[in-house]
Parts: sequence; structure tokens; C-alpha cells
Amino acid sequence: MPLLALILRTASTYVATGRAKNGKNRFAKNPRLADAEAETKMKITDVLRAEHAVFHNLFDHIETVVPRSNTLAEVKALAAVIEKVHAPHSKTEDDLFIEPLEPYFDQMGQRETFHAEHEHIEAALGKVQSARTVKEAKKILLNAIAASRKHFDKEERIVFPLAERILKAKTLSALGDEWLHRRKVSR
Ligand SMILES: [Fe+2]
Ligand SMILES: [Fe+2]
Repeated sequence: MPLLALILRTASTYVATGRAKNGKNRFAKNPRLADAEAETKMKITDVLRAEHAVFHNLFDHIETVVPRSNTLAEVKALAAVIEKVHAPHSKTEDDLFIEPLEPYFDQMGQRETFHAEHEHIEAALGKVQSARTVKEAKKILLNAIAASRKHFDKEERIVFPLAERILKAKTLSALGDEWLHRRKVSR
């Protein structure tokens, strides 16, 4: 799917341009320099913010074209694109973020909310495919986009800054490397 390939390539380029250009193990024997290297590598929070930037552009596009759309197939195709790119994003957050931040989510009473919001957004996007009228499909998709925007806003204002306060630079960089490995973005 060309649009999906373009989105993924844009996100990868965004990440690659912020990546450290120094040698891989140059500082391996010096812990202080190793910490300095961790500061210059891509943190998982930077990766997730870069993905959010792509989503915000997609959401703007969908909110512009969907109200004018006359065909059920077009609305379903747009929902399918968002669903395809949203699923790996929320899986990364669930897999890489929940565990190290679990005690803090528990304290804030947010642990279940975080999971539940991902599930709610994905279920809503999936529901567009069973809509029988264009009106129904538009309503479900635009509601899902509104829920996603609210969720992303909470992550950008609360969750990412919390992770950067609590987790060490080395941990944030190691999680960034794990993201690169999962997405098979070559270094
Ligand atoms: Fe999320
Ligand atoms: Fe997110």
C-alpha cells in the first residue's frame, strides 16, 4: 500500500535524522562517556513523539476529507490505514512502557486506563469496517480519531515527560534501540 509505505518511510527518516552519528562502541569502556553517548542516541520518547507527529498529520487529513466523502469504501479505506499504523504504535507503548512505568501508573490509577484506551481506539477503528452506511462509518471513524487525539494529548503532556523523569537516559536509549530492532530500521 503506497500511502502506508510513505508514512512508515517518513517516520523512519524523522528518527534517522535525529540519530547519533558517532561510532557504535566508541565509549564502551568509559561509563561517563557511555552515559554521554546514551544522551545523544534516540530515546524511546523521541521515537514515540515522532510517530505522534505523523499521526497528527494523518488525523488532520482524515478530519478534512471524511466529512466530504460520499463513498463507504473510501471511509473504510482511511480507517484501515489508521488501524494499520496505530496497532504497532500502541503495541510498542504497551510492551516497552507499561512494565518500567507500571508502579507509577498504579499510583496515578492510570494503568488500566492506558491499556483500555488503546483497546477502545483499536476496537472503534475496526468497527468502521462493519458499518453499513457511509453516515455511520463517518461517525464511528471521526469519534475514533477524537478519542485518539485525546489519548495522544495525555501521553504527550503526562506519560512521556513522566518516563523522562523516572527512567535513566541509558534505559530510554535502550528502549529506542529495541524499537529500531522491532521495526527492522537498519542502523
Ligand atoms: Fe498510546
Ligand atoms: Fe502514543
